[in-house]
Amino acid sequence: MKKLMLIIIAVALMLSCNQKKSSSEMDRFIGELMSKMTVQEKIGQLNLVTPGGGILTGSVVSTDVEAKIKVGNVGGIFGIYGPEKLRQAQKLAVEESRLGIPMIFGSDVIHGYKTTFPIPLGLSFSWDMKLIEKTAQTAAKEATADGIFWNFSPMVDISRDPRWGRISEGSGEDPFLGSEIAKAIVKGYQQNDLKAPTTMMATVKHFALYGAPEAGRDYNTVDMSRMKMYNEYLPPYKAAIDAGVGCVMSSFNDVDGVPASGNHWLLTELLRDQWGFDGFVVSDYTSVNEMIEHGLGDLQTVSALSLNAGLDMDMVGEGFLTTLEKSLNEGKVNENTINQACRRVLEAKYKLGLFDDPYRYFDDERPAKDILSPENRALAREAAAHSMVLLKNEGEVLPLKKSGTVALIGPLADSRNNMLGTWAPTGDPQLSVTILEGMKNVVGENAKIVYTKGANIFDDPEFAAKINVFGPRIEIDERSPEVMLKEAVSVGKSADVIVAVVGEATEMSGESSSRTDITIPESQKKLIRALAATGKPLVLVIMGGRPLVIPEENELADAILFTGHPGVEAGNAIADVLFGDYNPSGKLTATFPRNVGQIPIYYALRNTGRPQAGETFTKFKTNYLDVSNTPLFPFGYGLSYTNFEYSGLAISKESLTGNEEIEVSVDVSNSGNFDGEEVVQLYVRDVVASVTRPLRELKGFKKIFIKKGETETVTFKLSAKDLAFYHQDLQFYAEPGEFMVFVGGNSNASLSGKFELK
Ligand code: NOJ
Repeated sequence: MKKLMLIIIAVALMLSCNQKKSSSEMDRFIGELMSKMTVQEKIGQLNLVTPGGGILTGSVVSTDVEAKIKVGNVGGIFGIYGPEKLRQAQKLAVEESRLGIPMIFGSDVIHGYKTTFPIPLGLSFSWDMKLIEKTAQTAAKEATADGIFWNFSPMVDISRDPRWGRISEGSGEDPFLGSEIAKAIVKGYQQNDLKAPTTMMATVKHFALYGAPEAGRDYNTVDMSRMKMYNEYLPPYKAAIDAGVGCVMSSFNDVDGVPASGNHWLLTELLRDQWGFDGFVVSDYTSVNEMIEHGLGDLQTVSALSLNAGLDMDMVGEGFLTTLEKSLNEGKVNENTINQACRRVLEAKYKLGLFDDPYRYFDDERPAKDILSPENRALAREAAAHSMVLLKNEGEVLPLKKSGTVALIGPLADSRNNMLGTWAPTGDPQLSVTILEGMKNVVGENAKIVYTKGANIFDDPEFAAKINVFGPRIEIDERSPEVMLKEAVSVGKSADVIVAVVGEATEMSGESSSRTDITIPESQKKLIRALAATGKPLVLVIMGGRPLVIPEENELADAILFTGHPGVEAGNAIADVLFGDYNPSGKLTATFPRNVGQIPIYYALRNTGRPQAGETFTKFKTNYLDVSNTPLFPFGYGLSYTNFEYSGLAISKESLTGNEEIEVSVDVSNSGNFDGEEVVQLYVRDVVASVTRPLRELKGFKKIFIKKGETETVTFKLSAKDLAFYHQDLQFYAEPGEFMVFVGGNSNASLSGKFELK
C-alpha cells in the first residue's frame, strides 16, 4: 500500500513538473516571438474577421481579408470551412506575413457540425450527461475534420423567460443542471487535450447574464442584484471555466450599467481575479463597436475601454485594429495591456499545437471519413429520441400500434426545412428526415400512413418573410387555409388515430427571434380544433425552440409529445418514440407557463411574506386575478409509457456536521408495462436563513433505467458545500439549521424529509 502511494506521488510530481516545463516552454516561446513583433502586429493578433459565407449575425462583414492577413492584421477567422480553403488561408498567414504566425479558425458549432443534433434546449431535456458529452465530442470530430478547431459553444446562459428566442440555445432555467451540462459539453469538445486532431477549443458564452434581457427582448438591458447573479446566473459559466474551457465570449448586454464587452469588474475582477480564468476573451459580433450605441463614447474610446476591461480579441468590428495604436500613443492604453492580450491569443494557438504544425487540422481525407458517418447519424437519432418530453398521454393513446391507419397532419409533418432548429449554419436541411419519412421507415408495410399538410405554419406573409432569412422555413401554401383544413378533417376522419405535427418553424426561436405571444400560431390552432372535433384520438407532436403556451392544446389533445427541434434524424427519432421503439424519458428544463403574463416563471421561487397556499385565489396573497400561480408543466416534468412510483425516502442521519456527508435514498419502482428510464431528482430547501432562499433548489439527479416490475434504490449524497450559497457580502457558505429534501420525478416532488446542519 505504502509502495503504491509512493508511486502515485512520484507520478503526480512528474506530471506537475511536465506541466510546468511545458508552460515555461510556452512562455519562453511566446516571449521570444513577441520580442520580434511590432505593436501593430500584436494588435493584429487581436483581430477576428469573417469574410462572410457563414451566418452573419450583424450588419458588418470583414473586407480586404487577404491583404490584412498578409500584413499580420488578422489573428483568426470564422465562417469559412473545409481543409482546402482553410489551408489556403493559413498559407497566407504562415508564408506571406512577416512573422508567419498561424491563424485560429472558429465557427458556431452549436448542436452538431453537419450531423445536427437536437437544439441545446432539447439536449438538456435528456438530463443525460454522457450523451450530451458524446454529441459534443462528435461535433468536434466532424468540425476538426473540416478544419475548424475553435468553437463558439457552449452557450450556458440561464433563461427564465421563454419569450427570449435564444432560450433554445441554452440548457434552461436551472444553475445546477446548467453547470453539469456546461462541464459535459466543454469536456466533449476539448477532451482535456487541445492538441489532439479531433478536439476543439470551446468558448463559453455569453458572459454574462445574456439570458436575462428585460421583457425577453434579445440584446436588451439586463439588471439584477449581485446575489441573484452569483447564486442563479453565474454558476454555469464558472463550471465551464473550472472544466478548463479555453475561451470566453463577452455578451452584448450591459451588466450593472456597463456593457459586458467593456466591463472591467466582469472581465477582470470576477473572471480572472476571482475565478482564475487564464484563457482569452473574445467579444461577440461587433459588441465592442456597439458600445457606441450604448452611449459609452466613440470607437476609439470604447475600444480602449474593452481592452482595459480585459477583452482580448475583437470580433469583426476592427475597433482594436484601427484605434489601439492611436490610444497607445495618447496614453489611453498601455503596451503591457496590449502585450497581455496578444500573449493570451498566442497561448491559445500554442495550446492548440499550431506552432508545431499550422496545418495540423487540414487533412483532406478526413471529411469523407468523419463527417455524417452512419455512427454519427445513429447518435443523432438516439440523442433526439432521448430529448423528447411526453407531456400528456391520456388513455395511453401512445405508443401507437404499428397497424391500421395513421393520419399524419400538420405543417411540420413533412417539412425538411424545419427539422434542424436554430443555429445550425453548417447543417444541411436537405439531409434531414421528415416525420412522414420517419414513420414510414419505422412501420414499413405494417401500417398505413396518410398525410396532408392541413395548415400553414403561419398565414401572414410578412411574418413569414422575417422567419425566412436563412431559407424557406414558412412556406405559404397556394391552397386557401379553408381548403387545407377541409382536407385535413376528411383525412383525419378516415384514420384510426391522428398525429398532428405543429408548432414553431426553425427560425421562430434563436437569435433575434423573441416573441411576445408564444402560443401556437392561430392557423395551426384552427387545425388542432378541427382535428379534435373529429372525435378521433389526437396526438400532438409539438416542435418549438422554447417553452410554448399550450393550455388549449392540452385540453384538446389526448397525447402531447414536445420535441424541440430534433435535428437531422428528427423524423426517425419521433417515429421511434411514437411507435414505442423508444420509451420517452425527457424532462423539461424550463417551465411551461399557462400564459405569457406569468413570465418570468421558474420553479426555484423564493417565498414572499404573503404566499398563497394551494391553487385557490385568496385576497391579499401573492397571486393573479386571472390565472393560477402554477405553471402548466413544471421544471423537471415529463412522462413515460410506464409508471414510476417513489417510496421509502430515507436520510442517513438526523444532522450533518463539518465535512460529513449525508445520504438521501429513495426506492423507485417501475409499476407499469414498459421498461423505461427515469430522471430521479433531489431538491433542497433551506428552511430558515438570514436572507430569503428558494423554496426548492435542484441539488442532484440521476437518470436510471428500470425494467418493468423492478425497483431500484437511488442514493444521493449531500454535504455542507451543497447547501452553501452566496450571501449579501458575496461570501459562500451554508447556514446551520433545518433543511428539507424532496425527491421525485419533477420539481413538485412530494416525498420529503428533513435534517439539520450543525
Ligand atoms: C453572434 C452571437 O451572439 C454569438 O453567439 C455567435 O457566436 C457570434 N454571432 C458569431 O457567429
